[in-house]
Amino acid sequence: MSEINLEAYLKQYFGFSRFRQGQKEIIESVLSKQHVFAVLPTGTGKSICYQLPAMMLPGAVVVISPLLSLMTDQVKQLKSQGIKRVVALNSMLTPRERDSHLANLHHYKLIYMSPEMLQSKRMIRRLQQLTISLFVIDEAHCISQWGHEFRPDYLRLKQIHQLLDSPPLLALTATATPEVQDDIIEALALEKLRKFVYPMDKPNIALVVEQVDTIREKEERLIRLMEQYHIPTLIYFSSRKETSRMAALLQEQIPNRRIAFYHGGLDHQDRLLIQQQFMQNQLEVVCCTNAFGMGINKKDIQFVIHYHAPSQIEAFIQEIGRSGRNGQESVSLVFFHESDRIIPQRLLESELPTGEWVQFALNCLYQEDYSYEQLKEICLLTADGNEVYWRFLQFQLERLGVLQENTFYVQQMPQNKVQQQIEQLIAKRLQYKTAKLEEMLEWLYTNSCRRQQLFKPFQETLQPSAYMCCDHCDFSWTDWQPSPHEQTAQEQDWLQTLMRILYQGDTNEK
Ligand SMILES: Nc1ncnc2c1ncn2[C@@H]1O[C@H](COP(=O)(O)OP(=O)(O)OP(=O)(O)O)[C@@H](O)[C@H]1O
Ligand SMILES: [Mg+2]
Ligand SMILES: [Zn+2]
Repeated sequence: MSEINLEAYLKQYFGFSRFRQGQKEIIESVLSKQHVFAVLPTGTGKSICYQLPAMMLPGAVVVISPLLSLMTDQVKQLKSQGIKRVVALNSMLTPRERDSHLANLHHYKLIYMSPEMLQSKRMIRRLQQLTISLFVIDEAHCISQWGHEFRPDYLRLKQIHQLLDSPPLLALTATATPEVQDDIIEALALEKLRKFVYPMDKPNIALVVEQVDTIREKEERLIRLMEQYHIPTLIYFSSRKETSRMAALLQEQIPNRRIAFYHGGLDHQDRLLIQQQFMQNQLEVVCCTNAFGMGINKKDIQFVIHYHAPSQIEAFIQEIGRSGRNGQESVSLVFFHESDRIIPQRLLESELPTGEWVQFALNCLYQEDYSYEQLKEICLLTADGNEVYWRFLQFQLERLGVLQENTFYVQQMPQNKVQQQIEQLIAKRLQYKTAKLEEMLEWLYTNSCRRQQLFKPFQETLQPSAYMCCDHCDFSWTDWQPSPHEQTAQEQDWLQTLMRILYQGDTNEK
């Protein structure tokens, strides 16, 4: 594929004149039918690496994407660019919509779906009838058992890829340490695979940590900062409750700023609305959990605050990478309070089932002879509806051969052996996560350059900072004077439109 060709296609379909770092090499490899694993920093344009091939290759490109909002957003964006043959298959579709999409699947060039969708036999059979020219795994760190979201369905992708006759595969992620990279590559188990890894430091984001002595001090400091800086801002919290509490407090103290909260417990419509409003600058500040952000492509976020210390460096880099996408001078601020040691440790412990819980579930299975549906129900019930425990157990039982296609074969392995295996895995993961947290805390306490410390596990050299580096080098709040964000006429229009929709014609009511 010659250079002129590719660039002409890029211009034709996406209107861009030049490729960004990495895109061209990756696309060339994909087009020559190689399996590819690529690490490109957040916001640098990973999507083009499969969207452009989708326009050029015969057949369809299947994209596995972890988040509903992410899929919906991409499909909408593509459609607005005139690329209509795209579809997202997810759990929000009505059975009728799903049937209709499935029947028409051969019309689409780009098919987005969640890994959960791909587990259904019907879906696999349907895909087997199509020509799949590329199989994409977006946010591929989810495959790694060390990735920051443990999704068993991701680990089954390898098998499904084989069931689809192993078309060229492209796995993409924004942050993966060499250890996680190896783990992803191992999980994919492909004979030959090209690897592209690009540096992930962003020279225009200054890194700041502020130690606070009391929670009160933290709240007051946040209020003052929000009064001072009128720029698109994300504030990350480690608890859902805190997002709403602080959003209310901020809104009360600073009535002229438009502030909302966002977490995974909100219903789908609310989440979409907040995301949309933030994208369109109807909201300036979002207090959120880590459920917000992945795939959010808003170019002018200039301030990312971690109200609670993050628990993992990879997740932290992803989150701060939401800012400064337009190259403007941006700041990442982490507040640090002594309790930030304890809370993340508790949190990560709560992300994994306890030994007693596993024992209880296995008793139901081995001694009470529960069916698949019964076990699922009791597992969800006893874990407060926390589906992660059930999915974790389900996957382990499958891995150990005790569960196959929703039927249990307890004779495959005795109960105590299963218990032991699962407990070992839990202990291993807990140990790993704790080590990750320690690494993060070490960074918070460091006395040397934060930029160098943060990126050390990922890359050897750093670009010089474009504006200010970090609070140990040259950062000062007085030198950071970003221009306040003003509402454009277009945004005003959008607000009017929204008001009209919400209040059915009465645009004066606010
Ligand atoms: N070659 C290019 N020239 C100019 N803009 C580009 C180019 N490639 C991609 N972009 C733009 O960059 C933005 C980010 O792209 P994209 O969402 O694909 O990033 P990403 O790497 O997937 O980010 P994330 O890690 O958040 O998922 C988009 O607005 C996209 O249109
Ligand atoms: Mg992306
Ligand atoms: Zn520095």
